[in-house]
Amino acid sequence: MKKLLNALALAALCAIPGMAANEALVNLQPSKESPVIQKEIYGQFAEHLGTCIYGGLWVGPDSDIPNQNGYRLDVLNALKELHVPVLRWPGGCFADEYHWMDGIGPKSERPRMVNNNWGGTVEDNSFGTHDFFDLCELLGCEPYLSGNVGSGTVEELAKWVEYITAEDGPMAALRKKNGREKPWKLKYLGVGNESWGCGGNFTPEFYADVYRRYQTYCRNFNGNHLYKIASGASDYDYNWTEVLMKNAGRHMDGISLHYYTVLGWSGSKGSAINFNEEDWYWCLGKCLEVGDVVRRHCEIMDKYDPKKRVGLLVDEWGTWFDQEPGSIPGHLYQQNSLRDAMVAALSLNTFHTFSDRVKMTNIAQIANVLQSMVLTKGNQMVLTPTYYVFKMYVPHQDAQYIPAQVACPVKKDRNGRDVPVVSATASAKNGTTTLSLVNTDLNEPVTISVALNGVPAKKVAGEILTAASMNDYNDFGQPEKVTLKPFSSKSWKVSGDRLTVTLPAKSIVTLSLK
Ligand code: AHR
Repeated sequence: MKKLLNALALAALCAIPGMAANEALVNLQPSKESPVIQKEIYGQFAEHLGTCIYGGLWVGPDSDIPNQNGYRLDVLNALKELHVPVLRWPGGCFADEYHWMDGIGPKSERPRMVNNNWGGTVEDNSFGTHDFFDLCELLGCEPYLSGNVGSGTVEELAKWVEYITAEDGPMAALRKKNGREKPWKLKYLGVGNESWGCGGNFTPEFYADVYRRYQTYCRNFNGNHLYKIASGASDYDYNWTEVLMKNAGRHMDGISLHYYTVLGWSGSKGSAINFNEEDWYWCLGKCLEVGDVVRRHCEIMDKYDPKKRVGLLVDEWGTWFDQEPGSIPGHLYQQNSLRDAMVAALSLNTFHTFSDRVKMTNIAQIANVLQSMVLTKGNQMVLTPTYYVFKMYVPHQDAQYIPAQVACPVKKDRNGRDVPVVSATASAKNGTTTLSLVNTDLNEPVTISVALNGVPAKKVAGEILTAASMNDYNDFGQPEKVTLKPFSSKSWKVSGDRLTVTLPAKSIVTLSLK
């Protein structure tokens, strides 16, 4: 058996001839050489879009909805459970029309603006820089600012960095006048967003030069050290990464990549909750394609940066469906089903395999927009199936990655993409190994034989996320249909160096091994 599994190291994600439809092998390969899964891979994204900020995170101190200095408490407490490591703000496309000076000083005097990208909603700028940094302090996360390059000036961006991080000087004086004496720490700075599209429609050659110029004036004040991120490619635009790495690679710490699980950019994107079995597998196939896309961007980066100094940051990812019928056009409000949970687990499992290069990812978005963690309606909140995946996966944050080869039956989606029945990922931290397993099959359980290769498993405990139907979701005023439950100890057995575990159809399981 051991020989067979080693052979599989060369051919991950394949079926073994003769293997039963509901059997799989997983081969754990713990190694001291493996990279750490940066906690920032579990990053979040909050844009001034729909009710993500206003209503979702922020209701203002005078609201009837219980809040702490304006931040709604139900959402805050739910997010604390996720150990959010980093939060990207204020966009997205919004960032390249955002003028930060409109969001400081007395709220009643702040200018209003039209949010051109997202439904033409009027933005009153009542949530600004101070509110964002206070939120990050409450959540205990790193702030990640997305700077305006498309419609802003070099001076404006340079002054934003100075306002936030300088101890002294005119911008520091303005910050102090606005009530914040001490500078904040700012690590992650994005220089533009989707600069090939809503962020200015640049060519890669032109943007590379603009990036070099803007980043020059974003200074490190008083011991603050910026991690500068160039606006990267979307999906399959490998030329963008090539040109950026070639022309500006040495001036950046990171480059971004956006990949959405979406049917297409024009026409219907399909319903988030009314879908059939074929749509289920299409969605997982499209999601899993991110592995190939990331690999190809990484190969280009390796050419220019073989020592892997520059990080690849997938700073927007997740499902993008038609917005819920009856919701405000342009607000991207969508429900979240067990299928979204699958996309979250499969994406995170994939990102782990690139831990040597992928240093951050940010699911879009944290509340009420696209594949969110929470949905709110007035004073009500629901935790989405995606929320529960992030909760279940907290132990992987900053843990040492353990490569896991998988051999299992593989289905095809309607586009001919592979959808392996099993996906597995593992990591170790503080003497505990966390093994996450996914059964993508809608109808059949799968029994997985895990070669532990020395990973201790004297004590095993587990949690499971599944639902009666693939379309199930959590709705306001209803008991949760998709929620974390203890995983029965009858479902696994350890004998010697082998763990055998049976996952029900369409389920995600995390086991903690000691
Ligand atoms: O997340 C929604 C939007 O998707 C972002 O504003 C933009 O960057 C991307 O196109």
